[in-house]
Amino acid sequence: MVSSSANRQTFILSVIMFLREFGFDGLDLDWEYPGSKDSPPEDKHLFTILTQELLAAFGEESEKNGFPRLLLSAAVSASRRTIDAGYEVAALGKNLDFINVMTYDFHGSWAPETGHNSPLHKGLKDYDPVPFYNCEYAMKYWNYSGAPAEKLMMGFPTYGRTFSLSTSNTNVGAPASGGGTPGVYTKNSGTLAYYEVCTFLQEASKAWIDKQKVPYAFKNGDWVAYDDEKSFQFKTEFLKRKKYGGAMVWTLGMDDFSGTFCDQGINPLVNKLKDFLKN
Ligand SMILES: *[C@@H]1O[C@H](CO)[C@@H](O)[C@H](O)[C@H]1NC(C)=O
Repeated sequence: MVSSSANRQTFILSVIMFLREFGFDGLDLDWEYPGSKDSPPEDKHLFTILTQELLAAFGEESEKNGFPRLLLSAAVSASRRTIDAGYEVAALGKNLDFINVMTYDFHGSWAPETGHNSPLHKGLKDYDPVPFYNCEYAMKYWNYSGAPAEKLMMGFPTYGRTFSLSTSNTNVGAPASGGGTPGVYTKNSGTLAYYEVCTFLQEASKAWIDKQKVPYAFKNGDWVAYDDEKSFQFKTEFLKRKKYGGAMVWTLGMDDFSGTFCDQGINPLVNKLKDFLKN
């Protein structure tokens, strides 16, 4: 789609028609990722061109029709290598109204040892071989690479990542082989929705990674790193202190949307997040 001007124009015109037809107010690009996996290196620059042309077309459309301009944002990687390979950060910082940094999936069942899905800070040296895999570093790196802090939204996960422990070691950095027992509803080894984490916690041992400000729990060889009200509070205080733009959530459907699993009301994580951001 990005490879030729004609293809980009087709995309841009259909985006505008679609958004206006259904009364949406903007577009969030979620390309994972320009310049990585099967996307060639030149896509890094073509992604910038796409945002530039979208912004120009949104501006013209707004002037012509008298509606407020459509918004343009993107969900982007939080991994330093993927950022370097895929984004002209300063240009994106100009073209996008805001940038949703996907500050989660830092550690998961693909690794041979336990680690947290979305740690706020760097871990201890002995169990965290990758000092870049945390929210603080990713947000700082986007700003350092040229994006204005106030346009950067930090990603908040409403799910946990799970591991199957290989030994009796239950610490962060313990040997693991693959994902834990699948959730009853999400049916996927390696992740649990927050509403499933609540059930898991009932008879699990709980722990708090103080350096990284996030919780984990374990039971019968399953190890689950997740986020809760307390980690959301630490993360919100952090993003306010650093004057980032705000928060983005992945995803509404994995919070306790019915309020029946966690005994904390409906959508407890997202509602708490909203309160924390207000105060
Ligand atoms: C980081 O964000 C601040 C606030 O928007 C901005 O003034 C600064 O230029 C940004 N840093 C870089 C390297 O662009």
